[in-house]
Amino acid sequence: MAKKGRILSGHRPTGLLHIGHYEGTLRNWAAMQDDYECFFEIADWHALTTGFDETDQMPERIEQLAVDWLASGLDPDRSVLFVQSQVMEHAELHLLLSMVTPVSWLERCPTYKDQIANLRDSDGAGPGHGLLGYPVLQAADIIIYKANVVPVGEDQLPHLELTREIVRRFNNFFGDIFPEPEALLSAFAMVPGTDGRKMSKSYGNAINLADTPDEVAKKMKSMFTDPEKQRMGDPGHPDACPVYSYHQMYGDEARCAEIKAGCESGELGCVVCKGEATEKTLEALGPVMQKRHELAGDLGYVRGVLAEGKEKAREVAAASMDEVRRAMHLGGI
Ligand code: TRP
Repeated sequence: MAKKGRILSGHRPTGLLHIGHYEGTLRNWAAMQDDYECFFEIADWHALTTGFDETDQMPERIEQLAVDWLASGLDPDRSVLFVQSQVMEHAELHLLLSMVTPVSWLERCPTYKDQIANLRDSDGAGPGHGLLGYPVLQAADIIIYKANVVPVGEDQLPHLELTREIVRRFNNFFGDIFPEPEALLSAFAMVPGTDGRKMSKSYGNAINLADTPDEVAKKMKSMFTDPEKQRMGDPGHPDACPVYSYHQMYGDEARCAEIKAGCESGELGCVVCKGEATEKTLEALGPVMQKRHELAGDLGYVRGVLAEGKEKAREVAAASMDEVRRAMHLGGI
């Protein structure tokens, strides 16, 4: 079947993925594999822009991210899964793109402004050149594969806009080499964490794909509920309760309506409601979690997937770089 185009997306290896990542990103990526030619990149160089002083955990984080991806349905028979730093061509293109990218474009990027305001600056030297150039590297990641579509979260839109601007400027000087990629936003409702805020590793409220069923049950049990519903019989407000969000995500519609009514009338108590939400969650995510557990015990396989991905990615990236060197009269050609 003819594909609709080529996708590239990526993620920094910064720790275990949680249900928010799964519902917000991975499920979506996995579903696109039938329609698009897919490249998924573990962006370890990007992780260095804010964490260059702690690289000792990088190999493990890369492997664990690959495990999370494979468990979530990214399929090495249909997609190329690879590690950014294993495809050196990205660095070369980053360098060349940095020549055509005005510093002012990078300084006004909202993610950069945000990062420098919250910089973890271990030696007080200020933001690094690599951090400023983060979007240039991301542009290189995307266009070196001539990707047409980049499925990302809203936070990445400024980077996609910059990528398009860099492509226009580059093509203007050197000929029509790269397509302008489009961002594809996933329609996605926020997944709440155990404290009711958006699920995030940094809030300590996450349910990870690597959690065991017991850990999931324990976390769900401790989940924040409507503070006005203290005991059985008190009427609750399901729309303000994260446990109800789990019923909505993983339960069927008819049962959700019953739960809503039971909570509002006070007949349904939080303990029972949480128990059922846990069951539904484990029913839906159990297979992913089980697969994750198996893959984590078979790292030889996971490393093999990344080794194969590296070869496939390099082939495409190398062809693009040949074209770029020729267009720019570099390397004596
Ligand atoms: N910047 C992205 C993030 O933080 C990760 C990333 C790196 C990426 N390279 C990419 C995303 C290329 C899309 C395309 O999530």
